[in-house]
Amino acid sequence: MTDTRMIPADMPPDSPLGQAWQQPLMLGLFLPIHNGGWTMSTLPRGTDWRFDYNARLTRRAEELGFDLVFGPAHWLSKGGFGGETNYRETSLDAFIATSALAAVTSRILLISTIHILYGPWHPLHLAKFGATLDHISKGRWGLNVVTGFRKDEWAMFGQQQIAHGQRYALADEFVDIMLKLWGSDENVSYQSERWTLEKAFVTPKPVHGRPVMVSATSSPAGIASAVKHADLVFITSPAGARIDRALEALPAINQAVKDGAAAQGRSVRTLINPLILCRDTEAEAWQAYREILDQADHGAVEGFFHSHATGDSQSWRGHERDERTVGGNIQIVGTPEQVVDQLLKLKATGCDGIQICFFDYEPELEYFGRRVLPLLEQAGLRLPVARSTNA
Ligand SMILES: Cc1cc2nc3c(=O)[nH]c(=O)nc-3n(C[C@H](O)[C@H](O)[C@H](O)COP(=O)(O)O)c2cc1C
Repeated sequence: MTDTRMIPADMPPDSPLGQAWQQPLMLGLFLPIHNGGWTMSTLPRGTDWRFDYNARLTRRAEELGFDLVFGPAHWLSKGGFGGETNYRETSLDAFIATSALAAVTSRILLISTIHILYGPWHPLHLAKFGATLDHISKGRWGLNVVTGFRKDEWAMFGQQQIAHGQRYALADEFVDIMLKLWGSDENVSYQSERWTLEKAFVTPKPVHGRPVMVSATSSPAGIASAVKHADLVFITSPAGARIDRALEALPAINQAVKDGAAAQGRSVRTLINPLILCRDTEAEAWQAYREILDQADHGAVEGFFHSHATGDSQSWRGHERDERTVGGNIQIVGTPEQVVDQLLKLKATGCDGIQICFFDYEPELEYFGRRVLPLLEQAGLRLPVARSTNA
């Protein structure tokens, strides 16, 4: 079997991805660039969708040694998912916001989510934009390819949703065309039912041949596509957010993704997205959990469930309403020691990294840096990172 510690064969170890790859447990921050973050509750907090707030979070995450930040992309009508908070009605575009972070950071990977099949996106657009961002960020920009699992998003673009398997076939084609453009020293001509290129050329080439490629998927078709081109594959718990259930389900999923990549002669890193609620005592952590639930935005939760029921995503299945209210694909609640213990268990299931959601991002990121990170280093889950001096 392929040694999954090896960085992708086409990326040098001193590239930003190669550096992150060496971490026993990669650390990411799921940026709250939409209102409400990941928690559907009216309990007061400072979490804010605005760029300055997200830029502060990103710079602090970089100082703390985090490997990546990730901007999600969702298209919602007026009112968002509804409720008292109009959950996610307001959001920054992930591509623009994450790209802008390149100018205020120096080491951390910056991942933009893009629905490549909406509207008139052409692979030449993203090949050119990606090469440009790769240069601006010095090899730190990454593309999370998503195909659009909600019918109402397609309708916003005046399009009919394409069938699930077909979407992933098109995503593969889109990525293959970009790889041709990034890799070719000659003009590229290409014709298919969907995309035509005639004497298309992209230069400068990305610093390390191509940007970082990312997928977030749970279906067999999505995983088959991810293992062909992604470096980082975000997996999900099919058993809901409870950590004990997730720990049982995740070994098989991690193995399937890594075997799939090995069959392609590739290696990938799998990451999962926990919401971490960490306090000095276990009682305080669970008290915070209950306070969030006591002020649940029930209208938003119903709207969220309704919207997802009309989609065809196989991710985020098995979540109870309370679990969705608090957020995260899985949840880790407890003291710093308990959090590290659960992260060791996650690592043992084959997860190579986590991308964290917090309830109240700024103070909780600070607390995580002060109380949890040193323990992660002691536990061998994190290697010390040269602390950056960003702009
Ligand atoms: C960590 C993570 C982040 C995701 N971010 C987005 C996103 O920003 N926008 C989006 O439309 N879908 C997002 N998804 C959903 C995926 O794009 C995908 O549509 C969904 O998981 C369905 O996967 P499947 O087609 O394999 O069932 C995300 C999924 C995960 C696990």
